[in-house]
Amino acid sequence: MTLNIENVEKQYKILATGTLINALNGVSISLEDGQTLGIVGESGCGKSTLARVVSGLEKATVGKVAWQGGQISDKSKNHLRPIRSRVQLVFQDPYSSLDPRQQVGAAISEVLTVHKLVPRNRVEARVVELLSIVGLTPDLQNRYPHQLSGGQRQRVSVARALASEPDLLILDEPVSALDVSVRAEVMNLLIDLRAKFGLTYIFISHDLAMVRYISDVIAVMYLGKIVEFGSWDQIIERPMHPYTRALIAAMPDHSIIGNPETLAKTLQGEVPDPAHLPTGCAFHARCPIAVPVCTTRVPVLIEITPKHYVACPEVGK
Ligand SMILES: Nc1ncnc2c1ncn2[C@@H]1O[C@H](COP(=O)(O)OP(=O)(O)OP(=O)(O)O)[C@@H](O)[C@H]1O
Ligand SMILES: [Mg+2]
Repeated sequence: MTLNIENVEKQYKILATGTLINALNGVSISLEDGQTLGIVGESGCGKSTLARVVSGLEKATVGKVAWQGGQISDKSKNHLRPIRSRVQLVFQDPYSSLDPRQQVGAAISEVLTVHKLVPRNRVEARVVELLSIVGLTPDLQNRYPHQLSGGQRQRVSVARALASEPDLLILDEPVSALDVSVRAEVMNLLIDLRAKFGLTYIFISHDLAMVRYISDVIAVMYLGKIVEFGSWDQIIERPMHPYTRALIAAMPDHSIIGNPETLAKTLQGEVPDPAHLPTGCAFHARCPIAVPVCTTRVPVLIEITPKHYVACPEVGK
């Protein structure tokens, strides 16, 4: 196992009110080298928060994240920088990682020079090489982000992420903002890059077709926790957790997962407020198979069949 996420919690404090938002409530998961983990779940369940914590962009309130044996979450360790630069995050909106006033070439060379990744006289050649790796021509170096198409912009974000030679790439809805016609191109690029550089991916998406296309294993999140984890067949074809079952049943065409309108057909009630977490199982108030003890017992992921983990002791009873 090379990625170990251990009991990670993340709380955000709203300064104006002092309210604590429980965005992650004990996420534990391991991922093997070279695998792609797909993460699905309704809006607000903590996917992007997990992405930011695993990438080291934000610190976990509780818990640990280790990549290749180095702690990402512990800022006091000296080896943090090399480990951190080996984990990169690509956002849905390339504008959040690209400075609109910076030309493409400068955006990429900045990473190379700040982290001293290549000698000064090699920087320009490396920028051209990185552009070519993501399928862009050298002349794009002199463009500003707004002078690129959405697909080109996302390719530049990927090139910038690759500049620090990561081995773990976290892709937070990387194609969701793109026109349908270019989504497949960028997905294929990601799949090629994974093979070429032996990358491990975390891929977050609401589009189940994309998740299926790229992922080896899938985690389903609910209110800051992973409730089910396994292969596509296990999660999508044979879901066990009542929440996953409702998610899948809501979308017989396997399209957009977690759509609130369709989900309302298979699931009663609303996601509880993350500022006021329910006791016990966070899903109990909406759960069709809940028993009284679910209001006090906090479920943990249990391996129900080989490599299929479900956080519900009532399943299969
Ligand atoms: N900086 C922040 N300050 C306060 N609350 C936050 C912050 N970032 C996220 N949250 C809250 O944490 C919870 C998880 O948010 P997050 O963005 O991780 O969800 P998500 O699963 O990525 O949703 P989406 O599918 O809409 O992208 C939400 O309740 C959100 O409002
Ligand atoms: Mg998000």
